[in-house]
Amino acid sequence: MRVAVLFGGASSEHDVSCKSALGVVEALDPSVYDVTLIGASRDGLWRRVGSVDELAGTSLGTRLPPLENVDVVIPVLHGRFGEDGTVQGLLELMGLPYVGCGVLASALAMDKGRAGALLAAAGIPSIESVVVTRSSPLLEQHALPLFVKPNRSGSSVGASLATTPAELAEALAYALECDDSALVQPVMDGVEIDIAILQLPDGSLRAGAPLRVRHDFGFFDYDSKYTVGGAQFEVPAVLPPGVAAHLELLAKRAFEALGCDGLARVDFFVAPDGSAVVNEVNTLPGLSSLSQYPTMLRATGMDLPTVLATLIERALR
Ligand code: DAL
Ligand code: MG
Repeated sequence: MRVAVLFGGASSEHDVSCKSALGVVEALDPSVYDVTLIGASRDGLWRRVGSVDELAGTSLGTRLPPLENVDVVIPVLHGRFGEDGTVQGLLELMGLPYVGCGVLASALAMDKGRAGALLAAAGIPSIESVVVTRSSPLLEQHALPLFVKPNRSGSSVGASLATTPAELAEALAYALECDDSALVQPVMDGVEIDIAILQLPDGSLRAGAPLRVRHDFGFFDYDSKYTVGGAQFEVPAVLPPGVAAHLELLAKRAFEALGCDGLARVDFFVAPDGSAVVNEVNTLPGLSSLSQYPTMLRATGMDLPTVLATLIERALR
């Protein structure tokens, strides 16, 4: 079977995507899959490459990915221009099956403000966010500290913790450099717990083991995410009785509420009393060797090769 792995791209998470692509390529059995790597430069120009490293430093290519002679596509793209429904729309137009969420769910989950509103409307507790743009600044007074991030971003790019009014102004300006809108959120008392959802070819949902993120940084920022030793994962997370099952149920409901397909990682904040709010739903979670999604499924006995085979089967159903 001919599989195209799309990676890189004109997103602030270009480098993360390259790491994820390495993880994916290593996990695709060459005796089953004939893998073609199609990378996009930071300028968004696509070309076929022989290895992930070959993409670095070049920006030669075509505006559209060269997808001839391909049976199924794995978009290993994070952030804008790949996780946000744009590439999914292109693949729909081309009639090519692809792994993961479709256009609407991808676009919705990328817009964290709108995704949060939709989850809350579906009765799924979601982190409170105030949406700020250049034309609608933050008017009300909010108690500090506050967490500020671009509305459509990932891997904490453009995100900061503000503890003073001056830091808040700076954090908003920084987030609004990355996107047209920014989210202002309370700093949650509790821990970050992630849940991996994998959809089987028959449509049923399976959850990985809950994962707790532990780090010594002010928040789970870019460096703690992608530096070896930057954050530790506790898998399965040690949680009060009943909390894991509750999170699993909420994660599945969030997956369905946004209309996800194939895979997603649902990130929660869990307070000391066990109550939980969804922080965000990632439709193309990191798939590198350091990433949470493969780690959580591995802990339930499903390695990444099996996860990818399942996702490909689902895409081709
Ligand atoms: N945005 C990164 C890739 C993640 O959610 O894992
Ligand atoms: Mg994310």
